[in-house]
Amino acid sequence: MEFQVEAINPGECKAEALVVCCFEKEPKIEGCLKDIDHSLDGKIQQLITQGEIKAKDGEVTTIHSFGKIEPQRVLITGLGKREQFKADVLRRAMANACRALVKIGVTDVAVSLPGNLKGIESKSILAQLVAEGFIFGNWSFKKYVTNSENHNKIEKITLLSEKQEDIATINEGIFKGKVLAEAANFARDMINEPANYMIPEQMAMVANDVAKENNLEIDVMEVERMEEMEMEAIMAVARGSCNPPKFIVIKYKGRSSEEVDLALVGKAVTFDSGGISIKPSEKMEQMKMDMAGGASVIAAINAISRLKPAINVVALVAAVENLPDGKAQRPGDVVKTMSGKTVEVISTDAEGRMTMADVLTYAGRMGAKYVVDVATLTGACVIALGEVATGVFTNKPEFGQMVVDAGEEAGEYMWQMPMFSEYREQYKSDIADMKNAGGRDAGAITAALFLSEFVGDNPWVHLDIAGTAMISKDRGYWKKGGTGVPVRTLTNLAMNMAEKIK
Ligand code: BES
Ligand code: MN
Ligand code: ZN
Repeated sequence: MEFQVEAINPGECKAEALVVCCFEKEPKIEGCLKDIDHSLDGKIQQLITQGEIKAKDGEVTTIHSFGKIEPQRVLITGLGKREQFKADVLRRAMANACRALVKIGVTDVAVSLPGNLKGIESKSILAQLVAEGFIFGNWSFKKYVTNSENHNKIEKITLLSEKQEDIATINEGIFKGKVLAEAANFARDMINEPANYMIPEQMAMVANDVAKENNLEIDVMEVERMEEMEMEAIMAVARGSCNPPKFIVIKYKGRSSEEVDLALVGKAVTFDSGGISIKPSEKMEQMKMDMAGGASVIAAINAISRLKPAINVVALVAAVENLPDGKAQRPGDVVKTMSGKTVEVISTDAEGRMTMADVLTYAGRMGAKYVVDVATLTGACVIALGEVATGVFTNKPEFGQMVVDAGEEAGEYMWQMPMFSEYREQYKSDIADMKNAGGRDAGAITAALFLSEFVGDNPWVHLDIAGTAMISKDRGYWKKGGTGVPVRTLTNLAMNMAEKIK
């Protein structure tokens, strides 16, 4: 999708369709919509008065202009009630408008930017939200559908500015929105890929492409290197699959120091069958999404390297596949992790915390000052927070709050959960330092505490995205499937942290 900005009258723009916004319960049209309405002989006002257009949140009404203005169609997108407005309403409205246009085959659209929106401080943010909404709305995953007739997309979008002098600011916002939404869509593509394609080696190839495109340093380590480093927990999980594990390290340098300011650690189990502790077959196909954490940190470092904040960031991803096999680890095995701590494997299905343990140890040894890990870690987190909010667990609540705030900015909802050390009792082992599972009670918390055993004193946040990484039905500007959560949060976080370091 190609973006441009023009300072012309909406009725005179050359696009096939014009998108305008409208609030609910505001019976008299104003602003740019008023001029359009005038050219259309007051028909829009009429439809509003008659109640045909309610402008509810999510509503899109398409009317034809029959040659009275340049664009053949006007899309009136509802923003709901003005006092309930938030950034996500606009992202959603734009995604809805985009989908309505794609359905009727329009490829060239102009958007009249709404003014005076609560909480939107600049034209830059406004443009960013419009860009995000359209890029999300334009996304679909049809790679494997062979006879699909209708795969058209919006190709060109023009943002209409009232003033010539706002054009530069609007362009800045478009760029940021593009980077964020494209990165999220990139993660969504990876997540939706089937596990026979997205094997660990494929994840490493994707990471390589990202690194090459953005001139980032990358190291993909094979089994031999992992053995040298004694990453036994990762190896134990990987052993049941004939697709060998890959340990991916990507470095973004935003300032001249050698320090690692922020490490992003992503769980990347390309398929989680549960291993010998095999999962029920119903819905097992969803476990191709168990690499969403890894996908999101690769996508985030991609976005970060395009936005260039003055901060050093590394992305760490151990890509493995968890399958049952003659060589697979078994329940009851004791594994010595890279940290030296031993784990009794109660369930081979609690594999994510095993792979993450070694990568968190690696992050600590790199001297990472701040660590954020992202993992589809527990079914218990889905029970607690559903598909709407990501679970946030931390050893430093202020840093946790920074992540929650970065999420709020992105429209990726997050909620801090408790980490009382009393819960640690649940994963005590008789024969090793700990067990890898602590029973059903507070399963998301005991998993987070397990991870904390491999983290030092530096600020660390764990994001459990088991519920939010892939959704079972369309919601807001998302479609069923991979969401790209928390790519935009991580990118915002790096930007916000860079501001603080300065
Ligand atoms: N990948 C799963 C968690 C998961 C569940 C992600 C549902 C997305 C949706 C993880 O590896 C897992 O199997 N966790 C177990 C842990 C248990 C054995 C202690 C779980 O949550 O049941
Ligand atoms: Mn599992
Ligand atoms: Zn898993």
